[in-house]
Amino acid sequence: MNIVLLGPPGSGKGTQAKMIADKYKVKHISTGDILRENVRNSTTLGTEAKKYMDAGKLVPDALLIDIIKDRLAKPDVRSGWMLDGYPRTLPQAEAMGNIMPGLGQKLDVVLNIDVPDEELVQRLSGRRMCKCGTSYHIQFNPPKETGKCDVCGEELYHRDDDKAEAIMQRLETYHNQTQPLIEYYSKKGVIANIKGSGDIKQIFAEITKVLDKF
Ligand code: AP5
Ligand code: MG
Repeated sequence: MNIVLLGPPGSGKGTQAKMIADKYKVKHISTGDILRENVRNSTTLGTEAKKYMDAGKLVPDALLIDIIKDRLAKPDVRSGWMLDGYPRTLPQAEAMGNIMPGLGQKLDVVLNIDVPDEELVQRLSGRRMCKCGTSYHIQFNPPKETGKCDVCGEELYHRDDDKAEAIMQRLETYHNQTQPLIEYYSKKGVIANIKGSGDIKQIFAEITKVLDKF
């Protein structure tokens, strides 16, 4: 099964992705995590991407399309993948549509996670992240031990783009550049709308109702 997670910053893509990957054994591919790892390792890609990420803007399409082309061709995704944070623009969606047939892959479903903007601001400003990709929230989803990851025990950090100004810019970027993908994938008949507010486990239960059909 091949899945795209679509939704604004803070909608819970990363949170739900961990649970989906565990249950359905699909490979979780987060372009945000790939870029952050490149930033940490000061690669050429990381240095270029950081300017855009810190400002809450999208990294240029050409760089992301190369990343995805490479990643979807790796053997570990053959039994299924889940993209978290890609595509984010129409050219990225079209490029993916052109890459998949050559790899013998098709997109089964796009989970469109919907959360109102006011709630997103609250979620992002209180988020704490681990290098392993697990997200927490100081109030809504705290780790068992303050400041430490439940999964790997590493120290949690505050993302550079989870500051007020960058959050507002990321929301604007989402509405202008990514939201049009809802109509694009609706026309293709692959969208499933998920209400992303409320209890994390309840939202996952809604997601499983959709994914169990595949
Ligand atoms: P990326 O890392 O993808 O960030 P994002 O899309 O902004 O989304 P987030 O990771 O912030 O949110 P999320 O939906 O994963 O929410 P989470 O589960 O953590 O991208 C970062 C940057 O990289 C981009 O801005 C861009 O510059 C660049 N980039 C990446 N991909 C790109 C692409 N394809 N093209 C161009 N540029 C690209 O949850 C958020 C918080 O809410 C957490 O604290 C969590 O604990 C909490 N929470 C989750 N669910 C609930 C709930 N139900 N109730 C209460 N709290 C909840
Ligand atoms: Mg995320």
